[in-house]
Amino acid sequence: MATISFHVGSDCQTSQSYRQAIADCHSVFEMGRRAGHHMSLLDLGGGFPGTEGSKAKFEEMARVINAALAEYFPEGTGVKVIAEPGRFYMESVCTTAVNIIAKKATLESGGHRKLAYYLNEGYYGAFRIFLREPVSRIPIVVKEFPSEPRLFPCTLYGPTCDAFDRISLKEVQLPELDVGDWLLFPNTGAYKSSMSSTFNGFPIITVYDVMGPQLSLCQGFPDLPGLCHRLAPPSERIFQHL
Ligand SMILES: Cc1ncc(COP(=O)(O)O)c(C=O)c1O
Repeated sequence: MATISFHVGSDCQTSQSYRQAIADCHSVFEMGRRAGHHMSLLDLGGGFPGTEGSKAKFEEMARVINAALAEYFPEGTGVKVIAEPGRFYMESVCTTAVNIIAKKATLESGGHRKLAYYLNEGYYGAFRIFLREPVSRIPIVVKEFPSEPRLFPCTLYGPTCDAFDRISLKEVQLPELDVGDWLLFPNTGAYKSSMSSTFNGFPIITVYDVMGPQLSLCQGFPDLPGLCHRLAPPSERIFQHL
């Protein structure tokens, strides 16, 4: 039995990449058959989006894939087709909570205020994948303001003092915050802790398993209020966003 597998790249932005890959696999299947192999399995790999808001839609990818399979590997050819979705299942199941450990404010020409926030997690920790993503992540601010706060261009840095330790290459718009304030990055279940390192001595992020009250009763897992007691304040407000 011979298998051909491909991976169009994680978080694939162009559904047509699957069509091209399937067409290429068809050519490789023909070559394999001519060489006497029993070509029986086609593996479409991953690349599927992990959130509803992603630019490339899963339904569109499925349409492109089904059309390409009907053309190049129609039913009756005896080829089994599988896929290996990773991000599709995992991305939305985790939220990463970080806090601000240092802050720098600068005044640009024209009196424009810019802020740099240093976080306790960065490129060398759970956010290594962020710099490869097409759109900069904008965190949820876990802080109450008396009125709609003014936003400033902010650069987010990690904790390691390394020049490359940035959360995104572009500035993001955030309000004036203070050391100790919390930020949340939702949809951080794929390629985050698995790509972390202990560079410069910073420990790998702690992962907490959390489930809603109904399920936690069955499983004996910590429920949300229970976990709040184990985390530093303001964990109650953090969990309101989960
Ligand atoms: C061989 C293989 N299959 C599947 C995946 C999952 O990819 P994705 O998360 O893009 O779905 C990966 C990710 O690296 C991979 O290397």
